[in-house]
Amino acid sequence: MTALRAALEALPKVELHCHIEGTMRPQTVIDLAGANGIPLPTADPTELYSYDSLDSFLDVFWLVQSTLTTRADWTRLAYEAVVDSAAHGVVHSECFFTPARHLAAGTSLKEILAGLDEGITAAQAETGTTCLLIGDMDRAFGPAAGLAFVEDLVRLRREGAAGAERVIGVGMDSTELGIDSTTFLPGYQAAHAGGLKLTGHQGENSTATDVGACLTVLGLDRIDHAFPVLADRDLTARLAGERFPITICPTSNVVIARCFDRLEDHVYPLMRQAGLLATVNTDDPALSDLNLAHEYDAVARAFGYQWADMVAIALDGVEACWLDDPDKTPLRNQIARAASQLTMSPQRPLDDGSR
Ligand code: ADE
Ligand code: ZN
Repeated sequence: MTALRAALEALPKVELHCHIEGTMRPQTVIDLAGANGIPLPTADPTELYSYDSLDSFLDVFWLVQSTLTTRADWTRLAYEAVVDSAAHGVVHSECFFTPARHLAAGTSLKEILAGLDEGITAAQAETGTTCLLIGDMDRAFGPAAGLAFVEDLVRLRREGAAGAERVIGVGMDSTELGIDSTTFLPGYQAAHAGGLKLTGHQGENSTATDVGACLTVLGLDRIDHAFPVLADRDLTARLAGERFPITICPTSNVVIARCFDRLEDHVYPLMRQAGLLATVNTDDPALSDLNLAHEYDAVARAFGYQWADMVAIALDGVEACWLDDPDKTPLRNQIARAASQLTMSPQRPLDDGSR
């Protein structure tokens, strides 16, 4: 491991765009598929993780999701997700879960939440990190299913169901093809009325106009991907002025949505130069052989960032997260402390010759 990578592993980081199903370890896919009688096209899950577009990736994602059957499966998934991210310096995460196909098949949201919460609670105790959840509407299932999911979620929170209070927001993911995301407004309205924060995926297969429409119509508090926004100067300037949080997943945009040929071609540096609050995240780390320290390392190298840039990106993660302000302070202090300790080693900068 290079000195840079070691420092980025140790740097406390916040993850704001990670699908919990996309963290499933290959061995867990095999175990759950076996236990639940889900046929896999190959016994080698690394062969499973092969795709060449967002929609072909989603076929794999949906297969992985389909292995989650019992409450204990969700517990195992969540426990491993938090333990694995903490091993690479993640101190706080806000993870998506997208239960549309489970709900359509008759699984109760209450069971899923209780399962996720049990796993996260155990992993938090073990690692000293925190993990909150964002319930995503799956665009492939349509706005009515999205609304029904959100209404159920809000009701479970009101009733104090186990794990429901861990869900702090609602989002939207999955395919963008042929879908007008603004039709999901009723779900967003129900979420807002229920006291939940709002985010949504837009821009992997769509334009600045679509990103702008989501922001205008849906009342989002944060947006996922959204890099096409740079094509709209006025919108970019407005979002930069507001420090509106954007979650960017640079490697995912190369290997999953195929929006850029190489990481070096990603517009992330232009977003930062424009003053946007653009955070760095993994998206589906296990399915793209990634973790957040690896992603910071890749970003630093691709864009020639210095140590101070990487610390600033970590701090942007705190600014963009949905913790209350008083709860952000200890995270900022943790990052500042680690950052100064790490820079104290002689000539920490990126060109340390040990790559
Ligand atoms: N679900 C999991 N990963 C996703 C992505 N990158 N885009 C849309 N939906 C997803
Ligand atoms: Zn995503």
